[in-house]
Amino acid sequence: MARFRTRHVALGAFLLVFLWYMLPEEELAIHHLQPRGTAALARYMNDVKHIPHIEARQSTFAWNTVQFEYPPELTPKLPPPVTKRPRVQHNFRPDSRSVAAEQERRRLEVLRVFRKAWESYKRKAWMKDALKPLSGGYVDQFSGWAATLVDALDTLWIMGLRDDFYDAVEAVASIDFGKSTSGRVNMFETNIRYLGGLIAAYDLSENEVLLHKAIEVGDLLYVGFNTKNRMPVDFISFETAKEGSGLVVEEDVVSASPGTITLEFSRLSQITGDNKYYAAVSHVMDMFHEQQNKTKLPGMWPMRVSMAREDAISGYQFTIGGNADSLYEYLPKAHALLGSTDASSRKYEVMARNFMDTAIRSLFFRPMIPTDEDILISGNCDVLEAGPSLDPESEHLSCFIGGLYALGGRLFGNATYLDIGTRLARGCAYAYKSFPTGIMPERYNMVKCPGPDPKVPCKWDEELHAAECAKRTQYREGLPKGFTTAKDPRYILRPEAIESVFILWRITGKEEFREAAWDMFQAIVKETDTELANAAIEDVNTVGSKKTDYMESFWMAETLKYFYLVFADTDLISLDDFVLNTEAHPFKLSKV
Ligand SMILES: *[C@@H]1O[C@H](CO)[C@@H](O)[C@H](O)[C@H]1NC(C)=O
Ligand SMILES: *[C@@H]1O[C@H](CO)[C@@H](O)[C@H](O)[C@H]1NC(C)=O
Repeated sequence: MARFRTRHVALGAFLLVFLWYMLPEEELAIHHLQPRGTAALARYMNDVKHIPHIEARQSTFAWNTVQFEYPPELTPKLPPPVTKRPRVQHNFRPDSRSVAAEQERRRLEVLRVFRKAWESYKRKAWMKDALKPLSGGYVDQFSGWAATLVDALDTLWIMGLRDDFYDAVEAVASIDFGKSTSGRVNMFETNIRYLGGLIAAYDLSENEVLLHKAIEVGDLLYVGFNTKNRMPVDFISFETAKEGSGLVVEEDVVSASPGTITLEFSRLSQITGDNKYYAAVSHVMDMFHEQQNKTKLPGMWPMRVSMAREDAISGYQFTIGGNADSLYEYLPKAHALLGSTDASSRKYEVMARNFMDTAIRSLFFRPMIPTDEDILISGNCDVLEAGPSLDPESEHLSCFIGGLYALGGRLFGNATYLDIGTRLARGCAYAYKSFPTGIMPERYNMVKCPGPDPKVPCKWDEELHAAECAKRTQYREGLPKGFTTAKDPRYILRPEAIESVFILWRITGKEEFREAAWDMFQAIVKETDTELANAAIEDVNTVGSKKTDYMESFWMAETLKYFYLVFADTDLISLDDFVLNTEAHPFKLSKV
C-alpha cells in the first residue's frame, strides 16, 4: 500500500506544476472558482456550449406492439415509496488543503485516462460495441447497439464532459433496437449494459431521449417473459420474439441470468409508472424466495438452475463468484431501491440477510499469508454426499462481495456484515499488491486457514504451503507467497476490486482505501496502457506482460468510474442517493 508513497511527495510536487501547464484552462478554472463542498456536479462540470434539442428516432420495430401468447401477470403492484432509509455514507469532514490537492491530482489523472480512451472510441469505433485497443478495429458482440457508448453515458455525465455527453445522446437517439447483429440477444448483457446504462443516464440528466430508448429496450427484454411459465429466457430469439407466439425457456442456465433483472425492471416501473416490468420480475424472485431454504446449502442457490422446470434446488455447486454473483448482489440493492414496505418487496431483505449469513459460514475463508494482515477471501463450496466442502479458489469477479457486505451492514444495521465486508475488500487489495504487476489474476488458489475467526491463530507455514503447491497441477514457479495457482493469470480490465474499495471508502472514510485505490490505478494504467486506450493483459505475474486486443465496455462504464469517484467529492453519486446496478450504473433512490 505504501509502496509508492515517498516518491510521491517529490513526484507530486513536480506533477502539479507540470499539470498546471498541460491542462486545458477550463478545468483549472472550474477547480478554483467553485468552493469546496457545494454541489459536486457543478464543481466538475465543463462548460456546455448549448444543450441541444434532440428527438429520439423510433426503432424499426415497436416492441410494445407484440401480442403475447403468454401475457405475464400485472401484479404485484410497486411498493409505496420508501420514506426513511438508514444513512449509508460516512460523515466526511473536508480534507486538509494538501490532501485535497493530492486527491485532485489523482482525479484529473483518471479523467485523462478516460478521455484518451473515449477519444479513440470516437475516432475508431463510433457506434460500435467495443474498440480494439491495439489494432484500432472494433467488435460488435452485444447486438451492435453501441454498447461502449451506452455504457459510458453516465460516466461522461459524472466526469462533467457535457458536450461529449450530448453528442452521445444524439447518437443514442438513432440506435435501432429493431435490428440486431446477432439472431440471439443475450438478456443479461442487454439488461445490465443497455437498459441499465440508459436508465442511469436518464436518472442523472432527465433527458427524454434516454427514457424513450430505455423503454424500447425494456419492452424488448419484456418479450423475454413471453413463455409458458412466465420465466425469462436466457437468450431472446430476435425474429421469433417479434411474432409473439412465445419463446422456449432453456433447460439449464447460470443463476445470475434470471437473478439479475430486478433492479433495472423495478426502476423502469418506478420511472414510467408502468407496473408490468416490476410484476414480471417479482414472480421470478418469488421462485428464488420460496426455494432458498430447500437447497443443499440452505440460504444460497446452486450456481446452475432450471427456469424451465422452476428448479433452483437440486444443483450442488455454490459460489458468489462468476455465474451467480449478481443474483446475490441484487438482493440488498433491491431492498435499497424498494424498501420492505409490503409483502412483495419484503422478500429482498429476507433473502439478503439469509444468504449473507450462509456465505459467512460456508464460503469465506482466511488465507494463509506471510504477513499478519486480517483478510478474507471468498471461495467456492461444493455440497456432495459427505457434506459441504470449501475450495479455496477465488476470482476477480468475486471481489464485489466486500462492498456488498459493507452496504448490507449499513442497510440492515449489522456491524458484523460491515466488518466482514471490510476484511473481504482488504483481501482483494492484498491480492492486487501481492503480484509483481500490482494487479490480481482472473482466478487463483490460496491455502485455507482453520476457521474465519481472526482470534484463532494462522501462522505462515512454509512446509504446508509447499505441500499445497505440490498438490496443484497448475502451480508454477515464481508465484507470490500465499498463492498456490494463478489458474487464469489474465487481467481483463475488470472493476470488481475497485468497486469494493470505492464502497468501503464511502462507507468507512478510512484513508487506507483511497491509498489502495491509487496504487491499483497506477498499476493498472502502467500495464494496460496502449497508444489508443487500455488493453487486457495476459499475465499479471509478469511485468510488461503481453497485451490482448480487447477492451470491454466495462472499462469506461465501471472501472474508470469507480476510480474517479474515489478521488472526487464524496457527495458525487452519494450512496445515500443512488444504488448502482451490476454495471456501475447509478439509479436514483426515490424519496418522499
Ligand atoms: C428461510 O430461512 C430464513 C432464516 O431462518 C428465514 O428468515 C426465511 O423466512 C426462510 N424463508 C422461507 C421462504 O421460509
Ligand atoms: C448480524 O449478522 C450476524 C452474522 O450473520 C448475526 O449473527 C447477528 O445476529 C446479526 N446482528 C443483528 C443485530 O442483526
